[in-house]
Amino acid sequence: MKLSDIATTARHRLLAAQTHSVFDPVDQPVASTDASTDSDVRTAQLEVDVLLQFVTGRSRSTLYAWPDATLSSNEIKAFNDLVEERIAGQPLAYLTGQQEFWSLPFDVSSDVLIPRPETELLVETAIDYLHNLPAADVLELGTGSGAIAIALANEQPQTNILATDVSSDALSIAQANADKVSASLNKQLRIKFLQSDWFEAIYTMLADSKSALTSDQTGQTPLFDLIISNPPYLSEDDPHLTESIRFEPRNALVSGVSGLESLQTIASGARMFLYHNGMLALEHGYDQAEAVRLLLQNSGYNYINTHRDLAGIERVTTGLWITSTATDNT
Ligand SMILES: C[S@@+](CC[C@H](N)C(=O)[O-])C[C@H]1O[C@@H](n2cnc3c(N)ncnc32)[C@H](O)[C@@H]1O
Repeated sequence: MKLSDIATTARHRLLAAQTHSVFDPVDQPVASTDASTDSDVRTAQLEVDVLLQFVTGRSRSTLYAWPDATLSSNEIKAFNDLVEERIAGQPLAYLTGQQEFWSLPFDVSSDVLIPRPETELLVETAIDYLHNLPAADVLELGTGSGAIAIALANEQPQTNILATDVSSDALSIAQANADKVSASLNKQLRIKFLQSDWFEAIYTMLADSKSALTSDQTGQTPLFDLIISNPPYLSEDDPHLTESIRFEPRNALVSGVSGLESLQTIASGARMFLYHNGMLALEHGYDQAEAVRLLLQNSGYNYINTHRDLAGIERVTTGLWITSTATDNT
């Protein structure tokens, strides 16, 4: 069987199954079901190409240059098995173990959330804020694959980043990704990874009176210029949880009954660890901007601002911690 015939059959099967694209956000506004046929065909073709490249090790241009090439029976079986898994809803990134973020390659497994393109807005927001603070201290909460911390460390080589997650499996992947990116770019990334349930291990550092990033015994409170997080923000009964995101770790997606619990914990806890004028930057759901602004306001942050992603959706909310004027209303 020719390569082009195998690809066409797979594309028709994916289209018939109406799999969602790997590029879908975690929580897109409930999609209309009559999406453009052209767009569906392009997505299905892209997925077929990615899986064929993965199975054969051939580049996309080689696959297109030799449409009459034949595949071995092992390759055909491996490809068809992956198409079956994709039809069952398994995200493409978990099938290939790879996802690009900020133009960097990340290894992913079902232990981590697949980094989403809209999360690049959080990195952009951080870079804008750190523009005049080259040697800043940054805390990322809930690092998952390490995508945000690694992208930021690559852009801001002088910045010290402490990246935390409650999941030790996620931290292993994040550390491996940092090592891989560091080796491929031949560049030292200033990131430390730490297992912590939100601020728990940071409180311990505070109790130990050690500097969070340098671990010197200065007796200083661990403080940060910037605390960033893309925390879980879906409610327990969010309808998206029945879609292909159900393959991703529930702990990375769901936060309590309202979906706002982690955002609340972080907004409240970050106050203790931010310098005067330090920034908290939070990614949130497409319909949570107003609630998050209120949450930051009630926690005493100033200059609260929401940024829109490329789709025009309010996606990242920031606030400054002004120690002299901040009041704790919670
Ligand atoms: C939405 S994912 C974000 C992953 C990654 N930062 C990204 O943007 O692709 C949320 C992350 O928060 C972590 N998490 C969930 N509960 C946590 C907790 N109590 N303390 C620390 N991290 C937590 C999850 O393990 C997950 O990696």
